[in-house]
Amino acid sequence: MRRPTVIVALSPDERAIVCAELEAAGFPTAIVVGNQDLAEVLRAEDLAGAAILDAEMDIEAATGLADQLAAEGRGIPILMVAADSQLERLAARPDAARTEFVMRPYSADSIRWRIEAMCIRSQVAGAASTSEDAVMTGGDIQMSWGQRAPVVAVFSPKGGVGKTTVATNLAAAVQVRLKKQVLLVDADTVTGHVITSLALDGVRTLNDAWRDVPENGIADSFLDVSTNHISGLKVLALTLSPLHTEMLDSDHVMAGLEAARRGVDLVVVDLHPSYHPLNLAMFGAADQILVPVTPDIPAIRAAVQFTDVAGELDVRDRLAMVINRANSGVPVADIERTVGMDALAHIRSGGLLFVKAGNVGRTVIDMFPREKITEDFVALADRVLRGAKTHVAAAASQPAPASGLRGALPMLGSLFAKRSAEPPLVRPSGEG
Ligand SMILES: Nc1ncnc2c1ncn2[C@@H]1O[C@H](COP(=O)(O)OP(=O)(O)OP(=O)(O)O)[C@@H](O)[C@H]1O
Ligand SMILES: [Mg+2]
Repeated sequence: MRRPTVIVALSPDERAIVCAELEAAGFPTAIVVGNQDLAEVLRAEDLAGAAILDAEMDIEAATGLADQLAAEGRGIPILMVAADSQLERLAARPDAARTEFVMRPYSADSIRWRIEAMCIRSQVAGAASTSEDAVMTGGDIQMSWGQRAPVVAVFSPKGGVGKTTVATNLAAAVQVRLKKQVLLVDADTVTGHVITSLALDGVRTLNDAWRDVPENGIADSFLDVSTNHISGLKVLALTLSPLHTEMLDSDHVMAGLEAARRGVDLVVVDLHPSYHPLNLAMFGAADQILVPVTPDIPAIRAAVQFTDVAGELDVRDRLAMVINRANSGVPVADIERTVGMDALAHIRSGGLLFVKAGNVGRTVIDMFPREKITEDFVALADRVLRGAKTHVAAAASQPAPASGLRGALPMLGSLFAKRSAEPPLVRPSGEG
């Protein structure tokens, strides 16, 4: 399915950069310079996902276009470039609820992520408005079991930080120790290894199942396709081969996920370290996004990057950091300060326990119930279920390093430097 068209009404120099970025991300763009153009685009285009208007350049023209979009009645969301002094007037407009604002200077990249998020939200809202109970707000975990299970996604853009380990053992801790039915989804379509680490043989993947649907037949649900693990977990892999993802259109997968929430108590999703559209859709659907961070510079840098991206996608408040292999490397308090987030939980190094459990297709939770690392995962499970953003007491009470973060950790300090020095791609008009 193609991505929705983005209507762009920016000045010529800015729109060239913004359109190039959007098109590189797969969004067709339609440039409009006035009401006449907009009317033609709306007539020709039945899949318009969002409109970028520029109130700062000309507020009357921009609100004129916004009025035309409102009158047209499709509820196309608007990303409005505005000056601070215009916000009050614009926020009082009747279409304010579907308008987001951006101020100069902005980068084309940040616009692209905003548009991605707006399209996800409007698709989700569209789907919800046709269902009987249109509640699709994401955010905090609801503890009403049996209704719509919370979705917890596990993600970091960095490989090897423990996403799969955290997803699998968190799922097992909720299943085995907290006695809730969990669906564990391996949504890493590139290098996912949930299935092999649990030694599940002959599994049917979602891609296989959906490919084999007879014409006019009904596709099997996530739960139909899932495999039962000895721990009681239901486990579903979207695919076992990066070459076989043809049935995994993001919209279909998200609709399948939404349906599966009615049949279990918790859904845990393991993701590939990339910003693939499927991952962005998962961020949009997740109630909580766990970000495993190992105590080393590349993993911390990845977490910093992801918090920025999550801000652009408007899902920053769903992030919760899990320090993995917490008992080594950079101190937890320094990681928290650098990433700008307190840790939801710490998982210690498990050494060979993971290898031993993996060799026989078990999790450390059911194989080593008395080990301290199992208790770490049970504590994480408990906090996830309570939706608590509780700080880990030990970390919160750690004193700040005497010389300050940058003095103590010059490499971490340079992360901040890089972020603030990054020039915007698009400058305010008139600036050189
Ligand atoms: N707390 C831990 N103690 C000991 N070993 C661990 C721990 N966490 C993860 N590992 C090991 O580190 C390796 C990488 O972990 P894992 O596969 O979970 O990372 P990932 O983030 O999912 O990687 P990828 O990005 O490739 O999917 C695995 O061999 C795993 O067993
Ligand atoms: Mg993984």
